Amino acid sequence: MKYKVQPTDKERVMRETDFIVSKTDTRGIITYANRIFIEFLAYSEEELSGKQHNIIRHPDMARGVFKLLWDTLAQKKEIFAYVKNMSKDGGFYWVFTNVTPS
Ligand SMILES: Cc1cc2nc3c(=O)[nH]c(=O)nc-3n(C[C@H](O)[C@H](O)[C@H](O)COP(=O)(O)O)c2cc1C
Repeated sequence: MKYKVQPTDKERVMRETDFIVSKTDTRGIITYANRIFIEFLAYSEEELSGKQHNIIRHPDMARGVFKLLWDTLAQKKEIFAYVKNMSKDGGFYWVFTNVTPS
């Protein structure tokens, strides 16, 4: 189930030392999220458990970015990308991500 979230223009800005870590299975279902991830998204661990990572996809993000992401992972390569994510309250934050298959 996806939550119905209305995007707002409220930005959350990361602190210098913030480091977000998440893991998914091969279908994109979240299997691990660190404390900062949970803080920025404002979802509880229970709400995130078993959910698709696209729960935080921001509608401003072009679909092609994620196609490239999954195509790259399928080739057992890592990818770096700027991603705009959406929190539970509709606010957004930018991350520079490194996604690596393991
Ligand atoms: C490890 C990992 C991290 C991901 N992180 C994000 C993320 O921060 N934001 C996001 O929108 N999608 C992220 N994705 C991609 C999503 O799984 C998904 O492909 C994307 O949100 C687009 O949704 P869709 O595939 O249903 O079109 C991540 C995927 C993986 C494997």
